Amino acid sequence: MPLVSLEPVLKTALRDKFAVAAFNPVDYASMKAMVRAAEEIDSPVIIQSSAKTIRYYGHAALAAWMRELAADSAVPVVLHLDHGKDMQMIRTCIDSGWTSVMIDASDKPFEENLQLTGQVVEWAAQAGIGVEAEIGEIGGVEEDLVVDEDSVTLTDPEEAERFCKALDLSAFAAQIGTAHGNYRREPSVAFDLIADINRRTGTPMALHGGTGLSEDTFRRCIELGCAKINISTNLKHVFIDSFTQFKADNPNNYEPLNYLSAQFDALKALFKAKMTLFGSAGKSAAVLASIG
Ligand code: 13P
Repeated sequence: MPLVSLEPVLKTALRDKFAVAAFNPVDYASMKAMVRAAEEIDSPVIIQSSAKTIRYYGHAALAAWMRELAADSAVPVVLHLDHGKDMQMIRTCIDSGWTSVMIDASDKPFEENLQLTGQVVEWAAQAGIGVEAEIGEIGGVEEDLVVDEDSVTLTDPEEAERFCKALDLSAFAAQIGTAHGNYRREPSVAFDLIADINRRTGTPMALHGGTGLSEDTFRRCIELGCAKINISTNLKHVFIDSFTQFKADNPNNYEPLNYLSAQFDALKALFKAKMTLFGSAGKSAAVLASIG
C-alpha cells in the first residue's frame, strides 16, 4: 500500500495504548528489515531518516526505496524525517514523498519555535502529511546533533500546552529525562511530567532516546501517553556487531551476501522484539481502520 501519514497511526496507538517503533535506517537493507519485521508480526512501523542519512543518499533514493518497500506491503508504513533543523530539507522531504516530518526548533526561543513549526504545519497540511515538533531540547548525541545532557532542563508543561494547542501536531517531543545515544548514567524519566503533558495536550508523545531504557520504563511511558518510540543507537550496534561477529565466526568466508544475510536477520530480530515489546504486534488492522 502507499506510505501512510503519521497522524492516524499515532492516534490509534494513543487510543489503544500501544506505541509504534520508529527506527533510523542506515541503508536499503535496514529499511527492508524494518518492513519485513513489521509484516511478520502485523505491526505498523515508522521509518525515520536522519538529516545525515538524507545527505548521504539524497532524498530521491530514500523516497524511491521506501515507496517500493511500502507498495509491496500490507502493513502501514510511515516515512518520517527525524530532527529536521533545516527548513529547506524539510520542504524537500515534503515534496519528495515523506509522509511525516519532524521540525526541531527546540534550540530556538519559544515564540520562534512556534512560528517555524507553524510554517511546517501549514506545508504539511497542504500535503496531507503529519508533523512532529519539540520543545525542551533532548540531550545526548543523535547523528550530528550534540546537546550537553547536563545542561538540559525538563519541558515546562504549561509551555507544552500552549504549543500543542496552537498547532495541529501528530506527535509532540519533550525533554522528559531521556537522552540520545548510550546512557552515561541511569536515566531518570519524569513519568509525572509525561502524564501531565498528555493530560493537558492530548497529543501523542514521541519518546526520544529509546536505546538503553528498561522494559518497565517503556511500558510505563506507553501507558502514560508515549505513542512513538525512537530507536537509533541500538540499531547501529546490531548493524556493526552482526557483521563483525559473522567474520569472527566464519574467518574464511568471503561471500558478501552471507554477511548481509546475517546482518539482515539480526536487525529484523531486533525490530520484531521492540515492536512486540511496545505492543504494536497485530495492530495493523486497527490503524488501517482509522485511515478508512
Ligand atoms: P537513541 O539513539 O538513543 O536510540 O535515540 C534515537 C532517537 O531518539 C532519534 O531521534
